[in-house]
Amino acid sequence: EQQSASEIVLFGALGDLSRRKLLPALYQLDNVGLLNDESRILGVARQEQSLEEFTAFVVENLESFVKEGLNKETLDRFTARLVYQQLDFKETDSYSALADTLAGGHETRIYYFSTPPAIYGDITDGLKNAGLVTDADRVVMEKPIGHCLESSKVINDQVSRYFKENQIYRIDHYLGKETVLNLLVLRFANSLFTTNWDRNCIDHVQITVAESVGIEGRWGFYDEAGQMRDMVQNHLLQILSLLAMEPPADLSADSIRDEKLKVIKALVPINRHNIKDTTVRGQYTDGFLNGGPVPGYLNEEGANKASNTETFVAIKAEIDNWRWSGVPFYLRTGKRMPAKHSEIVVHFKPQPHNIFKESFAELPCNKLTIRLQPDEGVELQMMNKIPGIASQLNIHENKLDLSFSDIYQDQRVIDAYERLMLEVINGNQSLFVRRDEVEAAWTWADGIIEAWQSTNEAPKPYAAGSWGPVSSISLIARDDRQWVE
Ligand code: BG6
Repeated sequence: EQQSASEIVLFGALGDLSRRKLLPALYQLDNVGLLNDESRILGVARQEQSLEEFTAFVVENLESFVKEGLNKETLDRFTARLVYQQLDFKETDSYSALADTLAGGHETRIYYFSTPPAIYGDITDGLKNAGLVTDADRVVMEKPIGHCLESSKVINDQVSRYFKENQIYRIDHYLGKETVLNLLVLRFANSLFTTNWDRNCIDHVQITVAESVGIEGRWGFYDEAGQMRDMVQNHLLQILSLLAMEPPADLSADSIRDEKLKVIKALVPINRHNIKDTTVRGQYTDGFLNGGPVPGYLNEEGANKASNTETFVAIKAEIDNWRWSGVPFYLRTGKRMPAKHSEIVVHFKPQPHNIFKESFAELPCNKLTIRLQPDEGVELQMMNKIPGIASQLNIHENKLDLSFSDIYQDQRVIDAYERLMLEVINGNQSLFVRRDEVEAAWTWADGIIEAWQSTNEAPKPYAAGSWGPVSSISLIARDDRQWVE
C-alpha cells in the first residue's frame, strides 16, 4: 500500500552507501509501487553539478547495482523524482538554498544522513537555521554513532536538539536482513522454541559473522574503528539481543527495544580482570583466498605498518539474568576469513541418559542453525534411525533443512536497505536502534576496548583465508567445546 508523500533528502548522495544501497533500495520500492507517486528524491552533496549530471550518475549506479536489471517504466518514473542540491554541509547558513528547493513540497521530509557522523551536528544546525525542522520530519542516521560512549552522546545530543527520539531512525542494517527479522518469527511463532529457549535446555550459542572481504579501499577509516567498533558494538549485539531477549508484549517499536536493551544491559562486563579469558583479537596477515594471494592488513594500500587495529574478534559473552545464567554466547567476526558466512548455532543440552550406546557412545546434541547469509535458512540437527532390518538400532545424525531459496523460489531476496527505507517512510521505528540501546552497547564495548588497551598486547596474527587466530579456537576449547565449521 502506498504511503503518503514525503520528500526524501539524501545527504551524501554521491557517496558509496548512496550508490550501492540507498538509490537501488528506493528504485526497488518504486518498482513495486511502494513509493508515493509524488515523493521526490533530493540528492544533496558538496559537488557542483547539474540535474542532468546527477541523473546520469543515478542511472549508471542503478545499472551497476540493481542485479535484476532495470524496468524502463520504473526508471522513467524514478528519474523524474530526482532533484539535486549542491550544499557545503558545514556552511550552516547556506541551507536556505535547500529550503528554496524544498519549498512547496510535501510536509514530511526524510533526511538521510549518509555522511561522516562528525557533521551530523552541522547538518541539523543548517536545517534548523533554514526553518527545515518540523515535528513531521524524520532523520535517518548511519553508523558509526560515535567511537565510544562519550562521542556517541555528543552526536546524539547534537541531533536531538531539534529532533525528538521518535523522529530519529538509527540504522543498523542487520536489522533489515530477512533472516535477522526471522529470528522474531522463529522464536515467538513456534512453541517448540519458545518453551525450550533458556539455560535449562540450551548449552551454549555460537554467533559467527565471517567476511571474506578485506578493507575494500577504506583503510584509514577502518583503522580508526577496528572490528570491535565496526561489527560487534552494533551488528553482533543486535543479533545477540534479538536472540536472547524476553518475549516482547507486541511488535511495537518500544516493546521490542525495551527487551533488547535489557539483554545488552545484562551482559557481564568484560574488563582487565577477565579480558584474557573472554576475548581474542586478531589481525590478518598475507594469505590466500579463492585460490589467489591476498595482502595482509599491514600490507594493504595506505596501511600504517605499525597499526595495532584488530580485524578479527572472538568473545565469550555471558548474560547475567534468569534465563541465560551460565550459558555462554561465543561471538566471532572477522575480515578475510575463508568465506562470507554468517550463522547462529544454538547447541541444546545433551540427553540425560543414553539408551543407544551400541551405536553411539555419546549422543550428539541437537543443534539449531540459523543461516543468516548466504544460503539463508534454518536447520535442525537431530538423531534418526537408519532404515533397515538389523536388530541393533542404527542411528545417525541428520537434519531438517529449511532452505529459503528452495522454498520461496519466486521471491526476490530483499536487500536490508529496502526494508529499512520502507519502515522509515511508514514511520515505524521497530527496526531502528534507540539511543539507550546504542549507549548500553557502547558501555559494554568500551569496557573491552579499554581492557585491550591496558594490556597493550598486539592482535594475534591469522593468515588471510583462515578462520582466525589459533587462540580463538582455544577460547572455546577451554570450555570443552568447538566452533562449528
Ligand atoms: C558494515 C561494516 O556495517 O557491515 C562493514 O562497516 C561490513 O565493514 C558490513 O563489511 C557487512 O555487511 P553485510 O551486509 O555485507 O554483512
